[in-house]
Amino acid sequence: RPLETESGESSLEGFDHYMLKEIYEQPEALRNAMRGRLDDENATAVFGGLNLTPQQLRTVERIILTGCGTSWHSALVGEYLIEDLARIPVNVEYASELRYRNPPIENNTLVFGITQSGETADTLAALRETKRKGHRALAVCNVVGSSIAQAADGGVYLHAGPEIGVASTKAFTSQCCVLAMLALYFGRLRHLSFESGKSIIEDLRQLPNAVQQALTCNEQVRDVAKKYQNASTVLYLGRQYNFPTALEGALKLKEISYIHAEGYPAAEMKHGPIALVDDETPSVFIIPRGTTYDKVMSNMEEVKARGGPVIALASEDDPQVQAVADDVIAVPQVAEFLQPIVNVVPLQLLSYHIALLRGCDVDKPRNLAKSVTVE
Ligand code: G6P
Repeated sequence: RPLETESGESSLEGFDHYMLKEIYEQPEALRNAMRGRLDDENATAVFGGLNLTPQQLRTVERIILTGCGTSWHSALVGEYLIEDLARIPVNVEYASELRYRNPPIENNTLVFGITQSGETADTLAALRETKRKGHRALAVCNVVGSSIAQAADGGVYLHAGPEIGVASTKAFTSQCCVLAMLALYFGRLRHLSFESGKSIIEDLRQLPNAVQQALTCNEQVRDVAKKYQNASTVLYLGRQYNFPTALEGALKLKEISYIHAEGYPAAEMKHGPIALVDDETPSVFIIPRGTTYDKVMSNMEEVKARGGPVIALASEDDPQVQAVADDVIAVPQVAEFLQPIVNVVPLQLLSYHIALLRGCDVDKPRNLAKSVTVE
C-alpha cells in the first residue's frame, strides 16, 4: 500500500520508497537549511527565531542538547560541533532521562530540544520541565507549528520538507547542518575570528554538492548489501565526529532490516565488541582521512586479523584502506566537522538495500512509529 502525504497525494516521484526519496532529497534539504542563514559580511550565521539578543546569548555558559532516537544522534554531533567551534561546554541528554533526572542546571544554561516531528512526548516534557525551572528552552525542529515549536522560547526550523519514511534520514543531516551553523554563530560571538568564520561558511557551502557526490555510491552499496544481507550482527565503528555517525548507521540497520547492530567509538572495540568478531560478523569502519585516521586503521587491522569482514567508508584513493578492507566505499572529503553529514549517506543506503533484500517494509518498519507521542 503506497503511503500518502497529509494532503492525500502520493508523492513518491518515481522512487520506490519514501526513505529512498528522502535520502536523495538531502542535497536540496541542506540548501534549504542554509538558505538566508549564511552571512558573508560578518562571517557568521543568522537566525530569525532564536528570540534572544546577541548579548543574552553571549552570556551562555553551558548548552544542553536533548532529543530521542536519531535526533539524539544529531545532538551528539552537535556536542562535538559546539565544543569545537564555539568552546562552550555541551551536555547531551536523552529527553526521556532528562525529564525525570532532575540534574542541577546552572544559570546561563541554554537547552535545545532537537526533533524532526516536534511531537515526541519525552522531548516536549523535557523542554517543559527545564522551562519550568526557569531556563531558556529552544528547539531545532522540522515541523512548523508543532507542539515543541510552540512550547519552545524560540528556535530554528530545518526546512527539510515532510519526512514520511519512519527511519529518519534528511532530518538527521539537516539537524547536523543547523547545529553546525549554530556552532558557527556561537563561535563568532566569542573567540572565532572573521577568517575562521569565512572558511567555515565556505565548507558549509560545499556540503550539498559533496552529499550529491556521496549518493553516487548507491549501486556499489547495493552490491555490498547483497554480500552481507544475511548477517545477524553488524558492528559500526568510528571516532570523534564519526562516532555518532556509527551510532546512526547501526540504528538505521536495526530499524528497517531487524539486524542486530551496534555502534561504538572505534577505540572502545577492545573493551567488549571485539569479542563478537568472527567471519560472519561484518564491521563497518568509518575511516576518512583526518585526525584519528591512524588509530582507526589499527582497529581495522585488528578486526581483519581476527577474521572479521570489513566494510570501510574511506576518502577517495586510499590504498592503505583498500589493502585491508574487503569492501571500500569512497566518500568525498569535506571538513572534519561536516563529515557525519556526508558519511551517513552510504550508511543510510546500506540499511535501505539490506532491508529491501530481506523483504522488509522499509517505510513502515514493524513496531516503530514516525513520532512517539506517548511515553
Ligand atoms: C521515533 C522515530 C525516529 C526518530 C525519533 C525522534 O523513534 O522512529 O526516526 O528519530 O522518534 O523523533 P523526533 O521527531 O523527535 O526527531
